[in-house]
Amino acid sequence: MVKIKVNGEERTLDVDPAMPLLWVLRDELVMTGTKFGCGVGACGACTVHLDGVPVRSCGLPVSSAVGKNVTTIEGLVGKIAKSLQAAWVSENVAQCGYCQSGQIMTAAALIATNPTPSDKDIEAAMSGHICRCGTYQRIKNAIHVTAR
Ligand code: FES
Repeated sequence: MVKIKVNGEERTLDVDPAMPLLWVLRDELVMTGTKFGCGVGACGACTVHLDGVPVRSCGLPVSSAVGKNVTTIEGLVGKIAKSLQAAWVSENVAQCGYCQSGQIMTAAALIATNPTPSDKDIEAAMSGHICRCGTYQRIKNAIHVTAR
């Protein structure tokens, strides 16, 4: 048994402690907002927060989340989340949308620690996220809009 806290709720799971957190979220808890992209930590689609820090859940054993707060896109709430959501809409960020939940998780963590990030700050924080539609400039715009 593995006990983890996801979006404020304690969950007890009958899973292998080595199972990647991504698959626990998607297959065991049916939280499909967190996406599978590459599976090797290279694209950022699977990003969630562990105690507020963005991590790639595809390669992270669920045992690493024990004793920590896991936040997924479904549980991202509060002022920053609301502002990001509005900015994502106003800036027409999403094209296919597949990578966007991971992008938003990292953007939220960036703004939480750096409320007025520069272009360089945004590029550094978001650089590990791949978007095959090429929405990078719109993501940057939306982060600036959120930070205003
Ligand atoms: Fe985890 Fe690509 S699916 S980084």
